[in-house]
Amino acid sequence: METPKKVVLAYSGGLDTSVIIRWLMENYGCEIIAFSADVGQQEDMEEVRKKALATGASKVHIYDLKEEFLREYCFSALKAQALYEGKYPLGTALNRPIISKYLVEIAKEEGADAIAHGATGKGNDQVRFEVSVMALDPNLKCLAPVREWEFKSREEEIEYAQKHHIPVPVTKDKPYSIDLNLWSISIECGVLEDPWAEPPEDAYIITKSPQEAPREPLYLEIGFEKGTPVSLNGEPLKPAALMTRLNEAGGEYGVGRIDMVENRLVGIKSREIYEAPGATILYTAHRELEHLCLERETFRIKEYLSVKYAEMVYYGYWFSPLREALDAFVNKTQERVTGTVRLKLYKGQCIPAGRRSPHSLYDYNLATYEAADAFEHKAGEGFCKIWGLPLGVVAKKK
Ligand code: ARG
Repeated sequence: METPKKVVLAYSGGLDTSVIIRWLMENYGCEIIAFSADVGQQEDMEEVRKKALATGASKVHIYDLKEEFLREYCFSALKAQALYEGKYPLGTALNRPIISKYLVEIAKEEGADAIAHGATGKGNDQVRFEVSVMALDPNLKCLAPVREWEFKSREEEIEYAQKHHIPVPVTKDKPYSIDLNLWSISIECGVLEDPWAEPPEDAYIITKSPQEAPREPLYLEIGFEKGTPVSLNGEPLKPAALMTRLNEAGGEYGVGRIDMVENRLVGIKSREIYEAPGATILYTAHRELEHLCLERETFRIKEYLSVKYAEMVYYGYWFSPLREALDAFVNKTQERVTGTVRLKLYKGQCIPAGRRSPHSLYDYNLATYEAADAFEHKAGEGFCKIWGLPLGVVAKKK
């Protein structure tokens, strides 16, 4: 590979990406432009900017991507009801393609010939960054210093940082690796690497334990328009404001803790925990509205495709023809998914309490067992005969 001259780095401000700035300058002699996205990780982005410059970056780009991230990426996954292996709402996986998109954009703007990221060689994130970049600009080189450098431990990295006057995070060594955004928080490492060990309370960041949650339930009403959540208790809210409010409410009631052993793309099984109070509330509400508004076969095929959609996101195939085609299908199905869902949060649970929609397919006269019943009962006889016919043929043959 030709030595890169100008590199755009996905910079978080943490130890790894800080050391990467200096390491790339030393080992490749290249210029580093840092890029950080605000996706709701609650960090002082001005501090991040200062730190990147102090560490050696020639320039820093900081973008607030909260609304775009939620609207274009997270809410698409929501409409698809995509949960990886039935549980993980994909916060980290959805975040990588949008970061990659801006890495590529900045590289074009700045005339850079490579991008760099801080992901390791055994995780999913390297794949998501590099496959996204490949899909957007196959001529850009991808550098993953953590895959090639000489440091064998965090201590060695800290030593290198100190030698080069890189500000090392003052917080005492957190035992977990955390990736945080408004959609979900991914937490791994430390004691969590034992799949038998219950996650200690200190592993969770924004959710109360269900035991500590209030004794009285909290009722919420989420409004949807064409599958997109648009309001809370009747108040119209933009995506970031909505997520902030739902994360707070859900967190207070212990909703959205997820503990799983997942299959990584690179073949490893990994125990991770997630916190996604807001996303859990939205998935529950959205699904409930689909139950009301989608006719049976569309609902069914959507269920199958949600598994594939989640895989495409998890596997780094956001910028792919199939994901786009799936979105086209999903958006078509969402045309009538408009209405309101009432939910009850109680001791870690998010329970649907009611749903209504101008497009509701629920027909009281067909459903009722009361006097208003308009269903043609006698038609049931012929229906059973014909529906059972193939099985009757089999039985006679035996
Ligand atoms: N397992 C999750 C995923 O692949 C999260 C990975 C990132 N986690 C982290 N703590 N840095 O999407």
